[in-house]
Amino acid sequence: MGINIAIDGPAGAGKSTIAKLVAKELSFIYVDTGAMYRAMAYYMLSQGITKETEDKIESICEQADISIKYENGVQVVYLNGENVNAYLRTEEVGNMASVSSAKPAVRKHLLSLQRNLAKENNVVMDGRDIGTTILPNAEVKIFLTASSYTRAKRRFDELVAKGETCDIQEIQKDIIERDERDMNREVSPLKQADDAVLVDSSELSIDEVVDRIISLYREKTKEMC
Ligand code: DC
Repeated sequence: MGINIAIDGPAGAGKSTIAKLVAKELSFIYVDTGAMYRAMAYYMLSQGITKETEDKIESICEQADISIKYENGVQVVYLNGENVNAYLRTEEVGNMASVSSAKPAVRKHLLSLQRNLAKENNVVMDGRDIGTTILPNAEVKIFLTASSYTRAKRRFDELVAKGETCDIQEIQKDIIERDERDMNREVSPLKQADDAVLVDSSELSIDEVVDRIISLYREKTKEMC
C-alpha cells in the first residue's frame, strides 16, 4: 500500500503546480486525475458529442480505454493506445470534461485506474473527490482553493503567455459555471472532506503552499511512527 496525499479543489486553484512540486520533493508520483477526465472528454468530442447530445456519454464511455504511463517522470495519458497529452488542456476539452465527469458511468470507469495507482505507489493525487471518495484513507488530505477572480487571473496570464487572446471576465464566468457544476452534481461532488485541511492560496506563494503540505505530511508520518 502506498502513502497517499490527496489534493482536491476547484479549477485553477493551483492543484497541479503544487501537487507536482510536493511529489518531486517527496519522490512520490504525481497523479493528475483531471487529465483522465479530460481524455474522456476528448474522446466524447472526437465522437461528435456536444452539450446537446450529452445523454449519449454514458453509453459510449466504455469504449474509451484510458491508461497512464510515466515517461521521464511525466504522466502521459493514453486513449485507445494514443498519447493524447497534447490535446487535453484546451478550454473546449475542459468544459466538456466538466459535463462528462458528472456522469456516474464515467466516474465508475476511471475509479479503479485511480485506486490502483495509489495502491501500488506513493502518490500525490489531485482532483475533486480524491479525499472524499477515491482515497478516503489518504494519510494527508488538502482542500486547496482560491477566489474565482484569482483563479481566472492565473488562467488569463497563462493564456497570454502562450500568445492567445482572451477575456478575463469570460474566463471567470466559465470558472464560476464549472464550479457550480462540479459542486452540485449528484455523484462525487466537489467538496472538502471532513478531515481535509483547507488551504486558500489566494494570498500565498507557491512555495508557501508546498511547505505547508510538506509540514502536514511530516507531522502525520511522525505520528504514525
Ligand atoms: O482539474 P481539471 O480542470 O483538469 O479537471 C477537468 C474536469 O474534470 C473538471 O471540470 C472536473 C472534472 N474532474 C472530476 O470531476 N474529478 C476529478 N477527480 C478530476 C477532475
